[in-house]
Amino acid sequence: MDGPDINRLVDTARYPLDDTEGEGWRALLARGRHAMAEAGSFNLDGFLRPDAVDRAVSEVETAVSTGAHRHEARHNIYFSDEDDGTPATAHTGLTTSWTLAGDRLAGGVLDRVYRWPALAGFLARLFDKPALRPMADPLACLNAMRYEAGDGLGWHFDRADFSVTLLLRAAGAGGAFEYRRNLRGPGDDNRAGIARLLAGDDPDVAVVPLAPGTLNVFAGYRSAHRVTPVTAAPTRLISVLSFVERENVVFSDADRRRFYGRAMPV
Ligand SMILES: [Fe+2]
Repeated sequence: MDGPDINRLVDTARYPLDDTEGEGWRALLARGRHAMAEAGSFNLDGFLRPDAVDRAVSEVETAVSTGAHRHEARHNIYFSDEDDGTPATAHTGLTTSWTLAGDRLAGGVLDRVYRWPALAGFLARLFDKPALRPMADPLACLNAMRYEAGDGLGWHFDRADFSVTLLLRAAGAGGAFEYRRNLRGPGDDNRAGIARLLAGDDPDVAVVPLAPGTLNVFAGYRSAHRVTPVTAAPTRLISVLSFVERENVVFSDADRRRFYGRAMPV
Protein backbone atom coordinates (compact mmCIF):
# COMPACT_ATOMS: atom_id res chain seq x y z
CA MET A 1 0.00 0.00 0.00
CA ASP A 2 1.19 3.49 -0.79
CA GLY A 3 2.35 5.66 2.09
CA PRO A 4 -0.38 8.31 1.83
CA ASP A 5 -3.09 5.63 1.93
CA ILE A 6 -1.84 3.92 5.06
CA ASN A 7 -1.23 7.31 6.68
CA ARG A 8 -4.97 7.92 6.61
CA LEU A 9 -5.61 4.72 8.54
CA VAL A 10 -2.64 4.37 10.89
CA ASP A 11 -1.15 7.16 13.01
CA THR A 12 2.23 6.82 11.31
CA ALA A 13 3.57 9.97 12.96
CA ARG A 14 3.27 8.22 16.31
CA TYR A 15 4.02 4.77 14.93
CA PRO A 16 6.47 5.14 12.01
CA LEU A 17 6.69 1.41 11.33
CA ASP A 18 7.85 1.94 7.74
CA ASP A 19 10.77 4.20 8.73
CA THR A 20 13.09 1.42 9.84
CA GLU A 21 16.15 3.69 9.83
CA GLY A 22 14.51 6.35 11.99
CA GLU A 23 14.93 7.19 15.66
CA GLY A 24 11.18 6.81 16.25
CA TRP A 25 11.19 3.27 14.88
CA ARG A 26 14.13 2.25 17.06
CA ALA A 27 12.52 3.79 20.13
CA LEU A 28 9.28 1.94 19.43
CA LEU A 29 11.12 -1.34 19.02
CA ALA A 30 12.92 -0.79 22.34
CA ARG A 31 9.62 0.05 24.04
CA GLY A 32 7.98 -3.05 22.59
CA ARG A 33 10.77 -5.35 23.67
CA HIS A 34 10.69 -3.88 27.17
CA ALA A 35 6.90 -4.29 27.39
CA MET A 36 7.00 -7.89 26.17
CA ALA A 37 9.78 -8.73 28.65
CA GLU A 38 8.11 -6.97 31.57
CA ALA A 39 4.44 -7.71 30.97
CA GLY A 40 4.16 -10.15 28.04
CA SER A 41 1.92 -7.57 26.33
CA PHE A 42 2.54 -4.42 24.31
CA ASN A 43 -0.10 -1.76 23.61
CA LEU A 44 0.13 0.70 20.71
CA ASP A 45 -2.63 3.09 21.78
CA GLY A 46 -4.22 5.16 19.05
CA PHE A 47 -2.61 3.01 16.35
CA LEU A 48 -5.71 3.16 14.16
CA ARG A 49 -6.88 6.73 13.61
CA PRO A 50 -10.31 7.60 15.07
CA ASP A 51 -11.98 8.06 11.67
CA ALA A 52 -10.49 4.77 10.48
CA VAL A 53 -11.87 3.13 13.65
CA ASP A 54 -15.32 4.50 12.74
CA ARG A 55 -15.03 3.15 9.20
CA ALA A 56 -13.87 -0.25 10.43
CA VAL A 57 -16.78 -0.38 12.92
CA SER A 58 -19.20 0.39 10.10
CA GLU A 59 -17.67 -2.27 7.84
CA VAL A 60 -17.78 -4.91 10.58
CA GLU A 61 -21.34 -4.06 11.60
CA THR A 62 -22.48 -4.26 7.98
CA ALA A 63 -20.74 -7.59 7.47
CA VAL A 64 -22.20 -9.04 10.69
CA SER A 65 -25.68 -7.87 9.74
CA THR A 66 -25.44 -9.69 6.43
CA GLY A 67 -24.27 -12.95 7.94
CA ALA A 68 -21.67 -13.87 10.54
CA HIS A 69 -20.87 -17.17 12.21
CA ARG A 70 -22.38 -17.58 15.65
CA HIS A 71 -19.49 -19.13 17.55
CA GLU A 72 -20.90 -20.99 20.55
CA ALA A 73 -18.59 -23.49 22.17
CA ARG A 74 -17.85 -25.22 25.43
CA HIS A 75 -14.15 -25.83 25.33
CA ASN A 76 -11.01 -26.56 27.28
CA ILE A 77 -8.08 -24.20 27.63
CA TYR A 78 -6.42 -25.72 24.52
CA PHE A 79 -9.48 -25.42 22.26
CA SER A 80 -8.94 -29.15 21.70
CA ASP A 81 -11.15 -32.24 21.96
CA GLU A 82 -8.95 -33.65 24.72
CA ASP A 83 -10.65 -34.38 28.06
CA ASP A 84 -8.71 -36.77 30.28
CA GLY A 85 -10.88 -36.20 33.34
CA THR A 86 -8.48 -33.76 35.00
CA PRO A 87 -9.32 -30.11 35.70
CA ALA A 88 -6.74 -28.86 33.17
CA THR A 89 -8.53 -30.46 30.20
CA ALA A 90 -12.11 -30.03 31.43
CA HIS A 91 -14.37 -28.26 28.97
CA THR A 92 -15.33 -25.49 31.35
CA GLY A 93 -14.69 -22.53 29.03
CA LEU A 94 -17.67 -20.94 27.34
CA THR A 95 -17.18 -18.86 24.20
CA THR A 96 -19.97 -17.07 22.38
CA SER A 97 -19.59 -14.31 19.81
CA TRP A 98 -20.41 -13.33 16.27
CA THR A 99 -17.33 -14.08 14.19
CA LEU A 100 -16.32 -12.78 10.78
CA ALA A 101 -13.71 -14.77 8.86
CA GLY A 102 -11.05 -13.10 6.73
CA ASP A 103 -12.91 -13.40 3.44
CA ARG A 104 -15.69 -11.22 4.86
CA LEU A 105 -13.21 -8.44 5.66
CA ALA A 106 -11.19 -8.49 2.42
CA GLY A 107 -10.39 -5.06 1.00
CA GLY A 108 -11.66 -3.14 4.04
CA VAL A 109 -9.84 -0.95 6.54
CA LEU A 110 -8.73 -3.83 8.75
CA ASP A 111 -7.49 -5.85 5.79
CA ARG A 112 -5.44 -2.94 4.47
CA VAL A 113 -3.78 -2.40 7.84
CA TYR A 114 -3.20 -6.15 8.19
CA ARG A 115 -1.47 -6.31 4.81
CA TRP A 116 0.69 -3.23 5.36
CA PRO A 117 4.17 -4.82 5.03
CA ALA A 118 5.67 -2.48 7.62
CA LEU A 119 3.48 -4.00 10.35
CA ALA A 120 4.66 -7.57 9.69
CA GLY A 121 8.20 -6.26 9.37
CA PHE A 122 8.08 -4.52 12.73
CA LEU A 123 6.59 -7.56 14.47
CA ALA A 124 9.32 -9.77 12.99
CA ARG A 125 11.97 -7.53 14.52
CA LEU A 126 10.10 -7.38 17.80
CA PHE A 127 10.11 -11.18 18.05
CA ASP A 128 13.51 -11.75 16.41
CA LYS A 129 12.01 -13.72 13.54
CA PRO A 130 13.63 -13.76 10.09
CA ALA A 131 10.29 -12.72 8.61
CA LEU A 132 6.59 -12.65 9.37
CA ARG A 133 3.73 -12.55 6.91
CA PRO A 134 -0.06 -12.55 6.82
CA MET A 135 -1.47 -16.05 7.10
CA ALA A 136 -2.37 -17.69 3.77
CA ASP A 137 -5.63 -19.09 5.15
CA PRO A 138 -8.48 -17.00 3.67
CA LEU A 139 -10.65 -17.56 6.75
CA ALA A 140 -8.17 -17.59 9.65
CA CYS A 141 -5.90 -14.77 8.47
CA LEU A 142 -7.92 -11.85 9.77
CA ASN A 143 -11.01 -12.06 11.97
CA ALA A 144 -13.42 -9.75 13.69
CA MET A 145 -15.58 -10.63 16.67
CA ARG A 146 -18.71 -8.96 17.98
CA TYR A 147 -19.57 -9.65 21.61
CA GLU A 148 -23.11 -8.87 22.66
CA ALA A 149 -24.48 -8.86 26.22
CA GLY A 150 -23.70 -12.28 27.69
CA ASP A 151 -21.00 -13.05 25.13
CA GLY A 152 -17.39 -13.71 26.09
CA LEU A 153 -14.32 -15.75 25.32
CA GLY A 154 -13.33 -18.54 27.69
CA TRP A 155 -9.85 -19.11 29.10
CA HIS A 156 -7.54 -20.44 26.40
CA PHE A 157 -4.05 -20.49 24.96
CA ASP A 158 -3.40 -19.47 21.37
CA ARG A 159 -1.63 -21.78 18.94
CA ALA A 160 0.75 -19.11 17.71
CA ASP A 161 3.55 -17.68 19.88
CA PHE A 162 2.00 -14.25 19.77
CA SER A 163 -1.26 -12.63 18.77
CA VAL A 164 -2.20 -9.19 17.51
CA THR A 165 -5.56 -7.58 18.18
CA LEU A 166 -7.08 -4.25 17.27
CA LEU A 167 -9.94 -3.05 19.45
CA LEU A 168 -12.66 -1.18 17.57
CA ARG A 169 -15.23 -0.67 20.30
CA ALA A 170 -15.22 -1.45 24.01
CA ALA A 171 -18.30 -2.91 25.71
CA GLY A 172 -20.37 -0.68 27.97
CA ALA A 173 -19.48 -2.98 30.86
CA GLY A 174 -17.69 -6.32 31.09
CA GLY A 175 -15.72 -7.52 28.09
CA ALA A 176 -12.38 -7.14 29.87
CA PHE A 177 -9.30 -8.78 28.39
CA GLU A 178 -7.74 -10.77 31.23
CA TYR A 179 -4.56 -12.78 31.06
CA ARG A 180 -2.30 -14.88 33.16
CA ARG A 181 1.23 -14.40 32.00
CA ASN A 182 3.55 -17.35 31.25
CA LEU A 183 1.19 -19.97 32.59
CA ARG A 184 2.95 -22.53 30.41
CA GLY A 185 6.13 -22.67 28.40
CA PRO A 186 8.05 -24.98 26.10
CA GLY A 187 8.44 -28.29 27.93
CA ASP A 188 6.31 -27.13 30.86
CA ASP A 189 2.60 -27.89 30.63
CA ASN A 190 1.99 -26.65 34.20
CA ARG A 191 -1.28 -28.50 34.51
CA ALA A 192 -1.42 -27.76 38.23
CA GLY A 193 -1.19 -24.05 37.50
CA ILE A 194 -3.88 -24.34 34.85
CA ALA A 195 -6.16 -26.07 37.33
CA ARG A 196 -5.61 -23.23 39.83
CA LEU A 197 -6.41 -20.62 37.21
CA LEU A 198 -9.59 -22.39 36.13
CA ALA A 199 -10.64 -22.72 39.77
CA GLY A 200 -10.40 -18.94 40.09
CA ASP A 201 -7.49 -19.32 42.47
CA ASP A 202 -4.64 -17.59 40.62
CA PRO A 203 -3.57 -14.21 42.07
CA ASP A 204 -1.54 -13.29 38.99
CA VAL A 205 -4.41 -12.61 36.61
CA ALA A 206 -4.03 -9.15 35.06
CA VAL A 207 -6.13 -6.97 32.78
CA VAL A 208 -4.88 -5.43 29.52
CA PRO A 209 -6.43 -1.97 29.18
CA LEU A 210 -7.64 -1.57 25.59
CA ALA A 211 -9.22 1.49 23.97
CA PRO A 212 -10.69 1.81 20.48
CA GLY A 213 -7.78 2.01 18.03
CA THR A 214 -5.32 0.20 20.33
CA LEU A 215 -3.18 -2.42 18.65
CA ASN A 216 -2.18 -5.03 21.22
CA VAL A 217 0.64 -7.53 20.79
CA PHE A 218 0.40 -10.41 23.18
CA ALA A 219 2.26 -13.65 23.97
CA GLY A 220 -0.80 -15.88 23.66
CA TYR A 221 0.84 -19.29 23.48
CA ARG A 222 2.37 -19.07 26.94
CA SER A 223 -0.15 -16.75 28.55
CA ALA A 224 -3.71 -17.94 29.14
CA HIS A 225 -6.30 -15.28 28.41
CA ARG A 226 -10.03 -14.65 28.19
CA VAL A 227 -12.63 -11.98 27.60
CA THR A 228 -15.05 -11.65 30.51
CA PRO A 229 -18.74 -11.65 29.56
CA VAL A 230 -20.11 -8.39 28.23
CA THR A 231 -22.78 -7.10 30.62
CA ALA A 232 -23.94 -3.83 29.02
CA ALA A 233 -24.24 -2.23 25.57
CA PRO A 234 -22.65 -1.25 23.32
CA THR A 235 -21.30 -4.48 21.90
CA ARG A 236 -17.57 -5.15 21.94
CA LEU A 237 -15.87 -5.23 18.53
CA ILE A 238 -12.34 -6.49 18.10
CA SER A 239 -10.20 -7.74 15.26
CA VAL A 240 -7.56 -10.48 15.44
CA LEU A 241 -4.62 -10.32 13.01
CA SER A 242 -2.61 -13.53 12.52
CA PHE A 243 1.00 -13.40 11.37
CA VAL A 244 3.10 -16.48 10.68
CA GLU A 245 6.71 -17.29 9.86
CA ARG A 246 6.17 -19.83 7.12
CA GLU A 247 4.39 -19.55 3.80
CA ASN A 248 1.19 -21.41 3.09
CA VAL A 249 0.08 -21.86 6.71
CA VAL A 250 -3.59 -22.83 6.72
CA PHE A 251 -6.12 -24.26 9.17
CA SER A 252 -7.49 -27.77 8.78
CA ASP A 253 -11.06 -28.06 7.55
CA ALA A 254 -12.05 -29.22 11.05
CA ASP A 255 -10.59 -26.08 12.63
CA ARG A 256 -12.22 -23.87 10.04
CA ARG A 257 -15.58 -25.43 10.90
CA ARG A 258 -14.83 -25.10 14.62
CA PHE A 259 -14.12 -21.37 14.44
CA TYR A 260 -16.02 -20.16 11.35
CA GLY A 261 -18.78 -22.71 10.81
CA ARG A 262 -17.58 -23.55 7.32
CA ALA A 263 -14.46 -24.81 5.57
CA MET A 264 -14.61 -22.83 2.34
CA PRO A 265 -14.28 -19.13 1.56
CA VAL A 266 -17.38 -17.40 0.22
FE1 LIG B 1 -6.56 -15.92 22.04
